[in-house]
Amino acid sequence: MCGIVGYTGPRAAYPIVLKGLKRLEYRGYDSSGVALLHNHHINVYKKKGKVAELEEATIGQDVQAHIGIGHTRWATHGEPSDRNAHPHQSQSGELAMIHNGIIENYTQIKKELESKGYHFKSDTDTEVLLNFIEDIKINNNCTLEEALRIALKRVVGAYCILLISKDEPDTIIAARKGSPLVIGIGKGEHFLASDASPIIEYTKEVVYVNDYEIAIVKPDELILKNLGNEKQTPFITKLDMELAAIEKGGYDHFMLKEIHEQPNTIHDCLRGRLLPQSLQIMMGGIENNMDAFINANRIMIVACGTSWHAGLVAEYLIEEFCRIPVEVEYASEFRYRNPVIHKGDVIIAISQSGETADTLVALESAKEKGAFIFGVVNAVGSSIARLSHAGAYTHSGPEIGVASTKAFTGQLAVLMMMALKIGYAKGTLPKDRYVQLMHDLESIPEKIKEILADTSNIERIAEKYKDAADFLFLGRGYNFPVALEGALKLKEISYIHAEGYPAAEMKHGPIALVDENLPVVFVATKDSYYEKIVSNVQEIKARKGKVIAVATVGDEVIPGMADDVMFVPDADEAIAPLLSVVPLQLLSYYVGLYKGLDVDKPRNLAKSVTVE
Ligand code: F6R
Repeated sequence: MCGIVGYTGPRAAYPIVLKGLKRLEYRGYDSSGVALLHNHHINVYKKKGKVAELEEATIGQDVQAHIGIGHTRWATHGEPSDRNAHPHQSQSGELAMIHNGIIENYTQIKKELESKGYHFKSDTDTEVLLNFIEDIKINNNCTLEEALRIALKRVVGAYCILLISKDEPDTIIAARKGSPLVIGIGKGEHFLASDASPIIEYTKEVVYVNDYEIAIVKPDELILKNLGNEKQTPFITKLDMELAAIEKGGYDHFMLKEIHEQPNTIHDCLRGRLLPQSLQIMMGGIENNMDAFINANRIMIVACGTSWHAGLVAEYLIEEFCRIPVEVEYASEFRYRNPVIHKGDVIIAISQSGETADTLVALESAKEKGAFIFGVVNAVGSSIARLSHAGAYTHSGPEIGVASTKAFTGQLAVLMMMALKIGYAKGTLPKDRYVQLMHDLESIPEKIKEILADTSNIERIAEKYKDAADFLFLGRGYNFPVALEGALKLKEISYIHAEGYPAAEMKHGPIALVDENLPVVFVATKDSYYEKIVSNVQEIKARKGKVIAVATVGDEVIPGMADDVMFVPDADEAIAPLLSVVPLQLLSYYVGLYKGLDVDKPRNLAKSVTVE
């Protein structure tokens, strides 16, 4: 949610910042802008819309500079417009700043500044914070760094800011609390960004800045301090990521590339962990904390969106195999309803980005109350990964398409291994089922390849139903969360209203929606609910609904009743979500494509939701 980039060093700053903004555009695309510092002068260019529009607006402009900051915005305070786009300049014009996050007490600070004669050009909290810093600097006759420190002590909310000043011609001052910041260490140059993707082609050595830290960044010097002005030692990490991972690699969209990457990403996730030959699942984070899991009275799973759907699958898995009660919580609700948490309670946090503000804040308060936090995270080094006591990465690689696909299946794969490992260690999962499930899981990458080998049938179905006004997605058991995920994907990508429901619940209300215009997608693979779901399909057909089924290869009953079928290979029902979700990802991708929509950047969304 909002992407920020900065550069200071000998190279031309503008092309580096612009390219970085394109890489971070998935975080927000309401507007973008740059501030370039050259010869004690700051040029600011900003534009409503996508980065391409900014690029066009700067043609012929003076973009000379060796120091620059850039921002791509997901609007919070103030509508998307040129005026509200970042960077903002202070009233004197001395300072320019970009910001990712929300300053919650900005109205009060704004009033104070207005009473002192400050006028604001935008509706943003960022411009307020910037002028607050400038006001402190002037009144206290102190350095910019000191003024920033004083200002941040008053500020309530989340921020990652980059600040430049006409007086400090080669310095970027950065600070973070709650919104991510990575600094790339080059030779005589530094790169700053919300994630590593703008940095990767220049250096693999990075420092992840922590909350409440300020970074003073010059071409050949990086100083980290806490808000108490004490120096901190920067901890340099080596990036384990290749440039190809953040490029489209011949696909039209990141979403399609990421769907097709799933055989490899799941294989990477299982590699070295799932060892059926030796009956082992190697997961250090579980191994080292096995007692906490085995003795847990209950497990709480905290997540948002697609990750919450992965949590629902985990609820079924853990309850079935480990016999531990599980509660799956929306992070945003969990945090605010004062949940009962006891010391030693186990919380599994699921997050692709590792930066989702709702999840992060929920975990912080649970951790304070003594809960044990286990993170299932994709983004290495992210805030949630660092806050967790232990965890398991999904190893899905950077996910750039705004709609989550490969990260979801990576989460499922990790959660499945966790449930199998804990259940077997606890003695609640019998050996023969354990072995069979391990083999089933191991075969998933090859089975997904079979689904992806020919997508023409799914493309045809997408074209046929692309103009429907509503969709219903139904599933039972392990396939119920898959139905929810199918509905969410379709909403996000195609803007078609869609609802996911447990198939049997349909009779208690949603069936009233069914008529000859309503496509109903049944996730109806061969499992222990199969006979029941066959009856549910009949109930829809009896009311003239259009049935699109996800069915198991070889099934003849469901295909005989459905209007259209998308087949998946057979798998144990606990593992089947890894297969049944794939046709639904493709269906929403192709519906969005046929509707001519920007599937990688759906309206109003952002990849990493770093505001509450
Ligand atoms: C949907 C989607 C979102 C995220 C949600 C949580 O396609 O991507 O619903 O799943 O915003 O994000 P993470 O997993 O990064 O915490």
